[in-house]
Amino acid sequence: MTTSLAFLGGTGDQGRGLARRFAIAGHPVVIGSRSAERAAMAAAELAEGLPAGADVTGSTNLEAARTADIVIVAVPWEGHGTLLESVAAELAGKIVVDCVNPLGFDKQGAFAIAVEEGSAAQQAAQLLPESKVVAAFHHVSAVLLLDPAVDSLETDVLVLGDDREATDAVQALVDEIPGMRGVYAGRLRNAGQIEALTANLISVNRRYKAHAGLRVIDV
Ligand SMILES: NC(=O)c1ccc[n+]([C@@H]2O[C@H](COP(=O)([O-])OP(=O)(O)OC[C@H]3O[C@@H](n4cnc5c(N)ncnc54)[C@H](OP(=O)(O)O)[C@@H]3O)[C@@H](O)[C@H]2O)c1
Repeated sequence: MTTSLAFLGGTGDQGRGLARRFAIAGHPVVIGSRSAERAAMAAAELAEGLPAGADVTGSTNLEAARTADIVIVAVPWEGHGTLLESVAAELAGKIVVDCVNPLGFDKQGAFAIAVEEGSAAQQAAQLLPESKVVAAFHHVSAVLLLDPAVDSLETDVLVLGDDREATDAVQALVDEIPGMRGVYAGRLRNAGQIEALTANLISVNRRYKAHAGLRVIDV
């Protein structure tokens, strides 16, 4: 059976963008939201632009976490801890993919916020002791994910985690999106600098008016 994927905070650009690409790849996807109504609307809108047969539904974050095989967390850092606490029981036994970048913004641009647990991914691992937390998709541009003119997303995705089976599964998922490659990049204790690096990529984007991504060479 095809793995179903849920996106917590899936009404946002990043969740919708990833959901769009995985729906095209043939996965049933569930858009999660704090509001069932917003989720349903976002799912219906997303489905409109997809090939017939794409399986896109919407539900509350709680229901989305309960029903899907693999769950992707795509909420702003401010809501991360509270949301994960509220769905921890539903996520037990599942792979949970965290793409959250704890960032602040001021006149000088984006900057990394210090996280008590070390990173958003490590906070997720602490709050979800029964889940296999994997960190991935931090540097993938939502603009490109959502752009129907972009067929192939030429970028590597750094995949981190403490469970080999889980990181292998997420790398395999990444590889299903044309142009993308999942590259294992270490344990969760090294997720902080991966999340923080997004601030640098945002600076690159601003200076060069780009949607910068990463490529790891020689692997
Ligand atoms: N945008 C990108 O290009 C990009 C790239 C890589 C990684 N990321 C990461 O992906 C995450 C989502 O990014 P985004 O741009 O999609 O963010 P966003 O649009 O600001 O938020 C996504 C969704 O999260 C929900 N949400 C907002 N505040 C919340 C709160 N306090 N508690 C619970 N849910 C809340 C909202 O959905 P409802 O109101 O429907 O619940 C919102 O639609 C961020 O952590 C970001 O660092 C983003």
